Amino acid sequence: MCGIFGYIGHQQALPILVEGLRRLEYRGYDSTGVAVDDGSQVQTHKTVGKVADLKAILPKSVSGTRGIAHTRWATHGGVTQVNTHPHVSADGAIHLVHNGIIENYQHLRRRLSARGIECVSETDSEVLVQMMALELDGGATPLECVQNTLQHLRGTWGLCILFRDHDVLICARNGSPLIIGQGENETFVSSDPHPLTAHTQRVVYLEDGDLAVIERGSFSITTKGGKVEPNITVLEEAWGEADLGDAPHYMYKEIYEQPDALRQCIAGRVDREMGTGRLGGMGLDHAALVQAPHVRLLGCGTAAYAAEIGQMLIEKMGRIPAVTHISSEFRNNDPVINPKAFYLAVSQSGETADTISAVKEIKLKGGQVFGVVNVVGSTIARLCGRGVYIHSGPEQSVASTKAFTNMVAALTIFATQLGRTRHLSKADGRELIQHLQQAPHLMEAYFEDIGPIHEAVELLHDAGSVLFLGRGLSAPVAKEGALKLMELAYIPCLAYPAGEMKHGPIALLEEGSPVVVVAPNDHLKEKTMSALHECKARGAKIILIHEKGDPIGAEGDVSIAVPAIHPWLTPLLTVLPLQLMAYETALKLGRDVDRPRNLAKSVTVE
Ligand code: F6R
Repeated sequence: MCGIFGYIGHQQALPILVEGLRRLEYRGYDSTGVAVDDGSQVQTHKTVGKVADLKAILPKSVSGTRGIAHTRWATHGGVTQVNTHPHVSADGAIHLVHNGIIENYQHLRRRLSARGIECVSETDSEVLVQMMALELDGGATPLECVQNTLQHLRGTWGLCILFRDHDVLICARNGSPLIIGQGENETFVSSDPHPLTAHTQRVVYLEDGDLAVIERGSFSITTKGGKVEPNITVLEEAWGEADLGDAPHYMYKEIYEQPDALRQCIAGRVDREMGTGRLGGMGLDHAALVQAPHVRLLGCGTAAYAAEIGQMLIEKMGRIPAVTHISSEFRNNDPVINPKAFYLAVSQSGETADTISAVKEIKLKGGQVFGVVNVVGSTIARLCGRGVYIHSGPEQSVASTKAFTNMVAALTIFATQLGRTRHLSKADGRELIQHLQQAPHLMEAYFEDIGPIHEAVELLHDAGSVLFLGRGLSAPVAKEGALKLMELAYIPCLAYPAGEMKHGPIALLEEGSPVVVVAPNDHLKEKTMSALHECKARGAKIILIHEKGDPIGAEGDVSIAVPAIHPWLTPLLTVLPLQLMAYETALKLGRDVDRPRNLAKSVTVE
């Protein structure tokens, strides 16, 4: 989704801003622009398309040491140059970039119009810059311009504003992340920690309601109650190591990083001897674990499917009810919150607006929410205050892969810890932990022999639609496989619990329809195989994901074997061929694998 980068310091701003934009690209966007103050005027350049397209139109010499930049993911108004940020006031005195949505912008636009000021773009963001210009004309300081304008807004914003005649940048945050990076006599602003790591590890996450005045070597933050002392966070080094290296795409790189990422997630968090998990960051005490009446998990997309797997493992091991909610459906249904229950917010980015809203709703009603999050210091991580970082490292491909397996692993460890305080025996806990520690090696073993992925791609690439089936823990894996193929290859995909297939989706099947069946060697395999036979009997072509050495391999038109593992850990392996199938099918169709159309990495609007 939209990204912001800003710079004020002693170096030339333009290359820093363009590199910042490049590092924001993974979030997904459709147009991009930059504004640089060259000392006498502010030069603005914008284009529809990629950062490379912007680079191509930039004049050779744009000098200046202060500027702002933006990648736009269209919400209000089409993908056009005029709608691209930065937006500028009619007199050219103020330039602004905005992430978020101004809900009452139509009303504000009419009020501007009544004063003879017409916006040139269709965006909600432009009204802000025109309103600030009125304030500036009235004699307000830059900070007052922003403060006075914000009073009229409803919605969410992360703002970075450049005033031509004042040597500062002003930033404001409400519901849309913004981070200040502190350098030596230079200051950076970004909506995402990732681009900052190239310049500094010392950052300050703005909180909702914060306003920041940023000067070359310093900054100050005010909130409603007055000035606040900035809380400096030192970013982890690992967040800097996000370059593509020799890999053809980020998605490829991240799929193959899963064994190491999983090691990072497990390290120091399991007690093999006691057969349990040790999630220190959750701050769980024994009484809370024993007394919890139920667990509710929240997430969107891939995170929700990982949560569904976690839900099943919590019930299996903890023997307490657990349920997963799609975050966007949670708050609006006025949920009943039990303060003794555990709520887990699962998110790679930690910035997903729907999940943030759900977390706020739970907290408002007195519930305790724990984050299961990848990005350190992200909004969800900070809102929850407690939880578990999944430690996948930077995930830059829009389609999530290594975050999924690490979410599943972190939730498995949580379920084991919960289970061991309740019903899970030491022997069963030990067996599970031992297999979990084996999982990275088994992933590597699979990557050494990935099976006939290319034969599967032949069945998938020209399909009108694809059905994915699985049962139990494999039902969310089937959903994840369908989501991956759909978002990357743009093929309509449907995922169903295998037993439900005969209650409707079977009507779709005809001669040659591809059906992907996920059937690891668990207690549900036989039933899954019945569904497979029902599909076959109607002419479907079966792509079967099964365990190595299992004779059911003979039942698939294309059969892909993964190493055998503990039946509760099969998702960590069965998802791998589904990721590769989606990746290879998308490549065959010439799709942009890392940045599929219309999608964003971090969905920061509800
Ligand atoms: C799928 C995908 C999305 C995200 C979803 C939640 O490949 O990437 O479905 O999983 O937008 O994002 P996070 O985990 O950042 O909350």
